[in-house]
Amino acid sequence: MQGELTVELSSLPHPEAYSLEVTPRGICIRVAQAEALSAAAQTLAQAVCTDAAGQAALPAMRVEDAPWLGHRGIMLDPCRHPISVEGTKKILRIMAHYKLNRLHWHLCDDQGWRLEIRKYPRLTETGSKRTESSDWQDQRIKDGRPVEFFYSQDEVRDIVAYAHSLGITIIPEIEIPGHASAAVAAYPELGNQDSPGFAPEVVTGWGVFTHVMAPNEFAFRFIEDVLTEVCELFPRAPYIHIGGDEVPRDQWQKSPAAQAFMQQLGMKRESEIQNYFTHHCAQVLRKLGRGMVGWDEIMCAPQLPQDTVVMAWRGMDHARIAAARGHRVILCPIQGFYFNFPQGRTPQNPFYSGLSDFDNINWQHVLNFDTSVPGNKVIGLQANLWSECIPDMRKLEFMLVPRICALAEAAWLPREQRPGEAHLGERIRRHYAWFDARQINFRQEDGTPRLFPDARK
Ligand code: ACM
Repeated sequence: MQGELTVELSSLPHPEAYSLEVTPRGICIRVAQAEALSAAAQTLAQAVCTDAAGQAALPAMRVEDAPWLGHRGIMLDPCRHPISVEGTKKILRIMAHYKLNRLHWHLCDDQGWRLEIRKYPRLTETGSKRTESSDWQDQRIKDGRPVEFFYSQDEVRDIVAYAHSLGITIIPEIEIPGHASAAVAAYPELGNQDSPGFAPEVVTGWGVFTHVMAPNEFAFRFIEDVLTEVCELFPRAPYIHIGGDEVPRDQWQKSPAAQAFMQQLGMKRESEIQNYFTHHCAQVLRKLGRGMVGWDEIMCAPQLPQDTVVMAWRGMDHARIAAARGHRVILCPIQGFYFNFPQGRTPQNPFYSGLSDFDNINWQHVLNFDTSVPGNKVIGLQANLWSECIPDMRKLEFMLVPRICALAEAAWLPREQRPGEAHLGERIRRHYAWFDARQINFRQEDGTPRLFPDARK
């Protein structure tokens, strides 16, 4: 086909809506905003076929389309196992192909701090290194291999720009006040130094650990400084993720300084210290002109600002509570959207890492998951890829593909409009060639991987 390509901005009823017309005369794309161009381009690319003469061709068509949800995301965790710049870009390309538009980037945790912060160089000098790791298949074994990894600010800017070129916005996450072992190992002043047995180190195992930030001036300033640099690095992120999940209270209970802080402010329970941190983050981010998102535990804060986005991971009940309290909600319930969990009991597959809480999250389960929440407060749906048991790209891709296809459907269409399993299964099969051409590993229908694991275990 030879014809004209026209792109027009026009008033459509939804910010991400696009319309597409392919005729013998050419292609006409209409979008409400530039953001929608990426989805229109993906639709066009996916429609390319071969004509009778064996030439690449586009069928005549007319498409009017808009997504159900504005946040269609994947969460990557380079803390437990590093993910290279190139690896991250590969995931971004796969996401863009399926019209996912948000990468939630989990950049710090007990096992490593992965983001260069100019004002606090020890975060990466110390916090990005650990001596070894628990084996991904058998936690009782340590592998004896040191890990040292972080993204420089130049690399972050490069990834952010690359994502933007694909229509993807990155939402960075800084864990506050828990999951803080690496940060506290780098800056002990950040921790509860007077709590018994205080000896922070970058953690080599998996789980939840006691090191949390101390309610002191150093920590409050640290948060302000770090979030300021984060906002500079991620200029398009509408909200910044402040973590807030799984915060043990043990150190606050045993630290005389934390107890004195509570007494001074008339606090009765240690949970109120977490509330204080959450409100501090909200205040800092408001000053920086950004919104705030956090894991659903941040709802323990009374008077959590209404404009806070709640990321509901512990289940749909938490999503419903958040919506009933007037918060916008991003769904990523562990029962259906934790893509680190197995896609079925297939111990013969070389990526199998044992049973876990939810071991049958296959793409059919994702497609059929009930994501309905009364009201219209749900703004997003995402899948999380925690990487304790994901040591390399081969496994990362195996865990993502083809579940990402079902995620994309579930985020684009409300449940009652989604295609059935048979229809999506057929379409997924037709994508195998696209995966193969790009060396993307994926789970085949019999549960085995298309590509074998990397030589490194
Ligand atoms: C989480 O899985 N701890 C958010």
